[in-house]
Amino acid sequence: MSERVIPLIDQRHLMAHPLPIQGLSVHQVTGQVLDRLNRPLRDLRISVTDRCNFRCSYCMPKEVFDSSYTYLPQTALLSFEEITRLAQLFVAQGVRKIRLTGGEPLLRKNIEVLIERLAQLRTPEGAPLDLTLTTNGSLLKRKAQALKDAGLQRITVSLDGLDDAVFKRMNDVDFPVADVLEGLEAAQTVGLGPIKVNMVVKRGTNDGQISPMARHFLGSGMVLRFIEYMDVGATNGWRMDEVLPSAEVVRHLQTELPLVPLEASAPGETAQRWGYANALGQHDPALGEIGVISSVTQAFCSDCNRARLSTEGQLYLCLFASQGHDLRGLLRNGASDELIQASISGIWTQRNDRYSQLRGQLAPARSDNADATAAPRRVEMSYIGG
Ligand code: GTP
Ligand code: 5AD
Ligand code: SF4
Ligand code: SF4
Repeated sequence: MSERVIPLIDQRHLMAHPLPIQGLSVHQVTGQVLDRLNRPLRDLRISVTDRCNFRCSYCMPKEVFDSSYTYLPQTALLSFEEITRLAQLFVAQGVRKIRLTGGEPLLRKNIEVLIERLAQLRTPEGAPLDLTLTTNGSLLKRKAQALKDAGLQRITVSLDGLDDAVFKRMNDVDFPVADVLEGLEAAQTVGLGPIKVNMVVKRGTNDGQISPMARHFLGSGMVLRFIEYMDVGATNGWRMDEVLPSAEVVRHLQTELPLVPLEASAPGETAQRWGYANALGQHDPALGEIGVISSVTQAFCSDCNRARLSTEGQLYLCLFASQGHDLRGLLRNGASDELIQASISGIWTQRNDRYSQLRGQLAPARSDNADATAAPRRVEMSYIGG
């Protein structure tokens, strides 16, 4: 691997936007809030830890996230009480899906206690939320039953290949494929489905795994999704020539397997769906489907309904944002529910982020503090969650 020197400047605590709460009336602000591009707030992704036991080169490269890297101290993390309170207030603003992420969320102590609390939340119509979690699967075999018992509905597992050598090159900590597969099996056995499997494709590293992965999960009841390698954060040394466009993935698979396009199952969905077809060329649900997530070559910002809450309670409006909005400050300063709701809706109303659509027109983001003309340094995905 070529050597990269990435000076570390910790932006996490410096990045808060001032909250637009002045002038907001603190009356009951509930219901469906729309941003400046008319997008509703539907999906809240909550990062519960900035730590991970993997060092995927596209997310937490070893040379940056090494033994000298400073993770957040325990006191900085939102407590389960704080997370649950915020989640409830987000639900009042229209959120219907909550995804727990990290880092690796199963590393957060007693995560099932948080899940139990979130599983009790109800929409204004009295329905439970779509409650899910993204994990690297390393602890899943051990934890699947407890997660299910706590009320988790489904799970998404990251897996970047079936070949041990390739997978180990991706996770960079020598973690074997077999343990993730056992975790998937455990999750399926306890009923944490429908399970999705996310594979980030890096051209030249794991693209040889596309067919083996598709064949392995065909007919398994799990939905495999191929994800374009993205330029998130400031440390992964992203290069366009390592992105394999989803169109190529589909074209390649179609030479071997019969795929037909499927309708989106929900507005704002990240994946384009393709179903395996029977001999008549019709989708056969028993064979299942795959998805492709093409945020580089076919941006899906126009109906992006996702907000992200960082490990320490900063609200981010885009995966590629440089600044968050400090909700933890409000919580810890004794703000009322009404004030926090007014802040959330005020922040969302101002939102006009659409990074992936604008990617080509923007100045390159800063990876150090040397170039004042560059765009500000972007936050890491391990900190705000995928
Ligand atoms: P489901 O409801 O289970 O379909 O989840 P999802 O597709 O919304 O979420 P998931 O976390 O599985 O997303 C899969 C991958 O898509 C992530 O790991 C990211 O790589 C990418 N992704 C998710 N959300 C966004 C987003 O808002 N913007 C961009 N650019 N990429 C995203
Ligand atoms: N590009 C695309 N997806 C990424 N993820 C993390 N970093 C990247 C990146 N650079 C996503 C993967 C992984 C999840 C935890 O975050 O989908 O499975
Ligand atoms: Fe960990 Fe997931 Fe990031 Fe890999 S992609 S380093 S498993 S948080
Ligand atoms: Fe949403 Fe930002 Fe991703 Fe676009 S780039 S889909 S606005 S998170």
